[in-house]
Amino acid sequence: MPQKSHTHAQWSSRLAFLLAAVGSSVGLGNIWKFPYMTGESGGGAFVVVYLICIALVGLPILMSEWLLGRLGQKNPMSSMQKIAGRMKRSQSWGLVGLAGILGAYLILSFYSVIGGWALAYIKYAVTDTFSTLDGDSVGSLFGNLLGDPSTLLLWHSVFMIMTVGVVIGGVAGGLERAAKTLMPALVVLLVVMVGYAATTDGFAEGVRYLLLPDFSKLTAQTILAAMGHAFFTLSLGMGIMMAYGSYLSDDVNIGRTAVIVVFMDTIIALMAGMAIFPIVFSNGLDAGAGPGLIFQTLPLAFGHMSGGWLFGILFFVLLVFAAWTSSISLLEPVVEWLEEKTSMNRKAATIAAGLATWALGLATVLSFNVWSDIHPLGIFDKFSGMTIFDLLDYATSKVMLPLTGLATIIFVGWFMQRDELKSQLNVSSGAFSLWYVTSRFVAPIGVAVVFVFGLIN
Ligand code: PFF
Ligand code: NA
Repeated sequence: MPQKSHTHAQWSSRLAFLLAAVGSSVGLGNIWKFPYMTGESGGGAFVVVYLICIALVGLPILMSEWLLGRLGQKNPMSSMQKIAGRMKRSQSWGLVGLAGILGAYLILSFYSVIGGWALAYIKYAVTDTFSTLDGDSVGSLFGNLLGDPSTLLLWHSVFMIMTVGVVIGGVAGGLERAAKTLMPALVVLLVVMVGYAATTDGFAEGVRYLLLPDFSKLTAQTILAAMGHAFFTLSLGMGIMMAYGSYLSDDVNIGRTAVIVVFMDTIIALMAGMAIFPIVFSNGLDAGAGPGLIFQTLPLAFGHMSGGWLFGILFFVLLVFAAWTSSISLLEPVVEWLEEKTSMNRKAATIAAGLATWALGLATVLSFNVWSDIHPLGIFDKFSGMTIFDLLDYATSKVMLPLTGLATIIFVGWFMQRDELKSQLNVSSGAFSLWYVTSRFVAPIGVAVVFVFGLIN
């Protein structure tokens, strides 16, 4: 067995760990990003590639991050350094952890703005705005929100304060307990939404669009997007799952727990898609509407279904909650890093990290209005139409996460001892061999190929 220092904090229970991991993974990525990316990429072909990436890349990397964290027992950067040092390898492996911290900071800066949209929609739901909407006006409701920097700023600030408020006290028991009831509630509400979608004329078309792949729509860009999203949705490549693994005790079965998390995350994304696309087709909306997609489809559903007023409020409350449990996991590594690398205590580090994230978030807020014509990399064809928000999203999901994920899996698959991995994972020989081959060959080659082709194409 590996040597452990028992001074390091541990999860209070297996369930607490599972909740934290599901809390981080299930978020805006599932309900906001997955449907709009699917819509932009033409439907089922994207979904199939995404599912393949989840199984062949996401799952093995999730397991690798947990086992590295559990062995290292430190923050992601120090854990990597420590394990590399023990094997007489370069300390620069710690840079992988550092890249993850930077990624978390960049992602949270725009994640919080989108979390703010969800907050604004709670207000619209409460004031019964949705019942007055039709296919056209639902677009202007969203457009007006985006066009108004001060309102966006207000909600972004509220969301950041909520995030800082939790992280400042250490992940509060209250939030853990709340997650236990709110996550299942989110699933139930999604079932209701899919049920409503099933009553619309567009249901068959929506489901076909989501599940029947048209492979002529596949491009290198789509595949890169699907792979990047597999990382994003499972919170990989940012050291977050590694940090969570560092609080993990030896008796937790990493493989089985990873399968549960991946299953939950995937099923919630697919249900969101099943709720949204039928509404798109029944109302003549545009599946390729981009980041505004769910904010235009779901309000229409709430405006028309019975009990829609209440369901609308509940839904956006639960969406905020899902986003919130993810955003605290994004702030945590930045805080932990500041705490360990500077003389700041936890409170000061949390406030500093929160302020820095909030400030960068202003760039995303302005990307949708005042700065919507600013395209910083406009001189390059490939990036010509991209705003600052688009670039932040591209740089994190499509570059940073795949690269840190690739480094992680190469480290585990090629530099660590087979026996040690086997005892850490503690699964049957067959399952272990499958994981090992995937981690050594399938995942790294897959990520590398997709990454290179996606970038040059
Ligand atoms: N996985 C979260 C989601 O799907 O919304 C987003 C996220 C959280 C990404 C934490 C990365 C992360 F480290
Ligand atoms: Na997710």
